[in-house]
Amino acid sequence: MTYSRIVGTGSYLPEKVLTNRDLEKMVDTSDEWIRTRSGIRERHIAADGEVASDLAYAAATRAIDSAGLTPADIDLVIVATTTPDMVFPSTACILQSKLGIGGCPAFDVQAVCSGFVYALNIANMFICSGQAKRALIVGAEVYSRILDWTDRTTCVLFGDGAGAVVLGASDEPGILASKLHADGSYSDKLSVPGWVCGGKTTGSPFVQMDGGSVFKFAVRVFEEVAHEVLDAAGLTIADVDWFIPHQANIRIMEASARKLKLPLDRLISTVERHGNTSAASIPLALDESVSAGRIKRGDTLLLAGVGGGFTWGGVLLRY
Ligand code: UT7
Repeated sequence: MTYSRIVGTGSYLPEKVLTNRDLEKMVDTSDEWIRTRSGIRERHIAADGEVASDLAYAAATRAIDSAGLTPADIDLVIVATTTPDMVFPSTACILQSKLGIGGCPAFDVQAVCSGFVYALNIANMFICSGQAKRALIVGAEVYSRILDWTDRTTCVLFGDGAGAVVLGASDEPGILASKLHADGSYSDKLSVPGWVCGGKTTGSPFVQMDGGSVFKFAVRVFEEVAHEVLDAAGLTIADVDWFIPHQANIRIMEASARKLKLPLDRLISTVERHGNTSAASIPLALDESVSAGRIKRGDTLLLAGVGGGFTWGGVLLRY
């Protein structure tokens, strides 16, 4: 039996930092409101001309290095992004070309903030079925490009960044259980309802959000999907060393941890410094915690994503 296991991690944050104080000068908001409602203090913003594949490339090369591999060893590229470089080709194809590894399958996954969890699940199936041996999975976002910087209800919450993992074939289980969901009837609660049509953008090219609905939904499904993957693996919450939920709001994350009866010192949070980086948030938090020596080989991790669609999902894995 072939399993899959994370063999390397990497991440990248653009140089420019935008603080809550900076935002006070741009919209009618305050550092105090943003911190107390979301837990965010600052976020990174891509430079002019810096696109998702640039961020993805930086995170990917670090993940490949940390696995002790070279790009030529990669035989599957999946990029989870809501902010692709262009309509097509996919950001994964552009990344593959930047890595100089033409030939292997490469495609994007569009599941918004659940994108990384979706991509990990898909890569796991490629590896377990023998179709790939070393998959590169990247979450990369430039949300700053789809925010209305005059709308205080959304622009203070998001940031740019990328995180990556290399998932390798293994004799021992790494991914222990995984479950994905979507319910498109919630599509109006969180969306960018614009499209390219006849040479112009039709509809709105900016994030629209019913924050309260997303908040309640997220807390509910984080708990549900956590129990689904724990049950599937025959484990309990006491077996989880680290919970890495999608980093949208510290209040959502802590409320979910409390519902799961998980001590807050086992909750990984980077939202304070990164804001909500959508599909990049989980692999960014993972790589930071691995690099800091918090997450160690053999630890059991519970990843959970939720995002526009709505989409949601969980992955339980042994690191
Ligand atoms: O990746 C998934 C994407 N999105 C999310 O996960 C977001 C989920 N939702 C949330 O994180 C929270 O609902 C928010 C942070 C968006 C909002 O927190 P809240 O506690 O639900 O606040 P609220 O929406 O009830 O707004 C409270 C007040 C409103 O004023 P009134 O109507 O009570 O007078 C807003 O107009 O806060 C006002 N407000 C702001 N005030 C200062 C909204 N945005 C701001 C702002 N600065 N940036």
